[in-house]
Amino acid sequence: MAKYTIVQISDLHVGESGYRRDMIVSAVDEINKMKPNLVMVCGDLTWNGVREQFNEARDILQNIEAPIIYTMGNHDASNVGYLIFEELFGPRFVQYQDDTIFLMAADSSEPDLDTGHIGREGRSFIDKSFSDVNEGLLKVFALHHHLVPVPRSGRERDNMVDSGDMLELLMHKGVGLVLSGHRHYPWVWRLENMVLVYSGTCGSIRLRGSPCQNYNIITIGKSTLEISTKLIGGPSRRRGRYRWGKRGITSRSDYSLEYKDNPEE
Ligand SMILES: [Fe+2]
Ligand SMILES: [Fe+2]
Repeated sequence: MAKYTIVQISDLHVGESGYRRDMIVSAVDEINKMKPNLVMVCGDLTWNGVREQFNEARDILQNIEAPIIYTMGNHDASNVGYLIFEELFGPRFVQYQDDTIFLMAADSSEPDLDTGHIGREGRSFIDKSFSDVNEGLLKVFALHHHLVPVPRSGRERDNMVDSGDMLELLMHKGVGLVLSGHRHYPWVWRLENMVLVYSGTCGSIRLRGSPCQNYNIITIGKSTLEISTKLIGGPSRRRGRYRWGKRGITSRSDYSLEYKDNPEE
C-alpha cells in the first residue's frame, strides 16, 4: 500500500493583531508540493468570526489542491460567526471516507464561549457514524478542542466539558487517531489504543514556545502511523511512530524532541 498522508493545520487566526498571513501562504505552498491525500483544518480560522476574516481565510486556503475538511473553532463561532462558517466552509459535522480512512469531523464549539462541548445528541450521532465503518479503515476523529490537556500551553483552560465521555466513546468505537487544535502547541499523546494529535498554530503569533508557526504531517502505511511537526519554511520534528491494526494503535516505536532537516535520520 502506498503511504497515505494527512496534513493537519489549525489556528490560522486571520485578523488577529500581527497574524502571519505570509506563513499561512507559505504553508499552502509547502502542502501543495507535498501532495497529501487529505488536509484537515482543525478550527480557529479567524480571530473573532467576522465575514472579512472568513473571506480572507477562504481566499488563502482555496489554493490547497488536496481534498480539505474544516471544523469550527471557538473563535470562528463567536459573534454568530458559526453561520458564516457553515455558509463558506460547510456543515458542522462532516463524514469522509476513502480506501484508507474513515474520518468524522465534529463542531466542538459553543457560541461566544471558549470551552468545548459535544453533548449527548452529538455523541449519539458520532456513535452511530462509527458503527458501520468498513473493517481495515483507520478511524479518525477531528475536532477543535483538546480531550486531554496539552503541555507547555500555559494554564489549563477551555477543555471539553464532556471530554471524559468523548474519550470513552471514541475508545469504545475503535477510533485510532484524534486530531485537535486550539492550544497552539503541537503534541502527541497515546491513550490506550488511540493517539491524540494536536496541531500548533500556522498563523498566530501566540506560539507558546514553538520556534515558529507549524503544522503536522501524519503518514499512514499498511500497519504504521507516523506523526511529525513541520516548521513552516524550516525543518520537521518526528513526534512518534506507531503500529495500528484492528485493535487501533498498539505500540510506539520512537520519539524525537529535536527539529531536524531530515527527521528520518
Ligand atoms: Fe486558537
Ligand atoms: Fe481555539
